[in-house]
Amino acid sequence: MFKYVLIILAVLSLVTVVFMGVRGSISRKPPIVIFDDMDDQPKYKNQAGSNFFPDGRQMRLPPAGTVPFGREVSAPDKSLLVDDAAQFQLQRMPVEVTMELLERGQRLYTTYCSVCHGGFGNGNGITVQYGQAPPANYHGDRLRQAPDGYIYQVITEGKGLMGPYGPSIRPADRWAIVAYVRALQRAGSGSIEDVPENRRSELATTQPSGTL
Ligand code: HEC
Repeated sequence: MFKYVLIILAVLSLVTVVFMGVRGSISRKPPIVIFDDMDDQPKYKNQAGSNFFPDGRQMRLPPAGTVPFGREVSAPDKSLLVDDAAQFQLQRMPVEVTMELLERGQRLYTTYCSVCHGGFGNGNGITVQYGQAPPANYHGDRLRQAPDGYIYQVITEGKGLMGPYGPSIRPADRWAIVAYVRALQRAGSGSIEDVPENRRSELATTQPSGTL
């Protein structure tokens, strides 16, 4: 009896070793699949035709009125369709600078930028107190002389450690911020001559502290 158990065990071991032995060996034949679980499916390739659609195209056309992704707004706003890269080259902003634009820019700047750049743009925002490397100071010659399109580009794409704000701030609002950054820079290089004479006396008691 014991003899048979040994024989059966020996045969089973042999069978196991023989079958396991081929695991991992390479074959050019397709694998034997019992349940394929939709592993293989037909697929469409770019530019190929299709009998499924009446027009024979496999790639579908966007519906009429489609605008590029991420740029759609409910109100028609042509500025959203302008190529960003072309704006980066502009020396002067393509919008009229009004008091309303500046106030809008100030609101947006305070929302998006002042945490890092500080209310006055000299790079002492609250994040610096928490250990972030100080961002650029707007009041240096290089950024003062930079074209408007460059500031717009930095907002759109970010730079170095600064992330891009293009996805969250619409182009028209980016220009409003640029206008406000310009106003901050102008304020930073202002002199007593810029202040109307009848208001100069007020300045003596209200020195800017560096933040607004
Ligand atoms: C999270 C912090 C942070 C926020 C928010 C932020 N910035 Fe910056 N910004 C930086 C840092 C850091 C730099 C320096 C980047 C570098 O040179 O590596 C910088 C650089 C800049 C520069 C100078 C680029 C140069 O050429 O030196 C401009 C202009 C600027 N930011 C504008 C803005 C404006 C406008 C906003 C708001 C829309 C904004 N930033 C929001 C951190 C920030």
